[in-house]
Formats: sequence, structure tokens, C-alpha cells
Amino acid sequence: MDQTVMLQKVKVRLPENRYSHVIGVIETATVLAKEFGVSEEKAKIAAILHDVAKFSDRDWMKSIIEQENMDPRLLEAHTELWHAPVGAYVAKKEFGITDEEILDAIRYHTTGRAGMTDLEKVIYIADMVEPNRKFSGVEQLRSKKEEGIDEMMRACINHSIAFLESKGQPVFPDSLACAADYEK
Ligand SMILES: [Fe+2]
Ligand SMILES: [Fe+2]
Repeated sequence: MDQTVMLQKVKVRLPENRYSHVIGVIETATVLAKEFGVSEEKAKIAAILHDVAKFSDRDWMKSIIEQENMDPRLLEAHTELWHAPVGAYVAKKEFGITDEEILDAIRYHTTGRAGMTDLEKVIYIADMVEPNRKFSGVEQLRSKKEEGIDEMMRACINHSIAFLESKGQPVFPDSLACAADYEK
């Protein structure tokens, strides 16, 4: 499927501000991919589709997680995490994406995981620091670009974990495993 068509199909599934976020992620992911020697084509497709399931029906997402034998820990986790693995499912079923690297980048864009590929890191980071993101500390995360993809990823995952902990929210095990990767 042509990328323009793909983007149009994503647009109708999202409210305007979420669509702007997707445009921001595409922009940032393309820059990061170029900078860090990752396929720009794959980064772009993953960016276009990463939030495709963001507004999908919760009961439907739950049924997909069960039906597809996805990580059962997801069902006990915050429902906000569901759109990433379910987004990978939608990307495959509805958009015909078969490239596992792209699907993994969509699947792990919210939690991160141990042993991430550079493409996964690019999407995780772009999702967090794209121009529409305004949270306190985002500039510092953006500035880590000078230090390379791993320093950027380390700063981003640590920031998300600290944020969740400050809110008293549970941290998904994959995120802790991801952070642990950077403490070796
Ligand atoms: Fe997302
Ligand atoms: Fe996103």
C-alpha cells in the first residue's frame, strides 16, 4: 500500500490532535533514522501506523489480545498499553505489513523491551520527543541526540519509568527490562 493512502486511512481513525502527533512522529522518526543509519522507509511506515489502534474499542482489543495469544500480562496492565501490540496486529491484517521489524517497532513503541533494534528505538524515541510533545524535560531528551541513539533511548526509558513512578502507576515489566539493558 502506498504511504499516502496508508496515512489517509490512519487519519480517519484518529482525532485531529492525535493525527498531528502521528505527523510529528513521522517527521522525527525520519530525521532520527537518517542520523542513526536506520531504514528511513521502515521508520516512516512504522511511524504512520504506530498509533493506528489508539482509539480502537477496548473490548475488541481485549479479544484480539486473547485470540492472538499476546502477552497475557497485558490484560492486567493499564489498557493504555494495548494499542501498541494491537496496532501491530492491525498493521498486518488491515495494511498488509509483513515486515517483522516494522511490526515490532509498532508493538513495542509504548513499553520498550530488552534487546530493542535500532528501528524500535527510533520509533520509541520519536513517539516521545516529536515537536508536539511539551512535557517538562522533553528538551533535555531531544538534546541527547548528540550522544547517540542508545543514550537517547536510555534517557527516554528512564524518563517514562520515573514519570509513572511519580504518579504511583505500575511500570510494565518490559520497560524495566529495557531500562536494565542500559545499566549493564
Ligand atoms: Fe502510542
Ligand atoms: Fe504515539
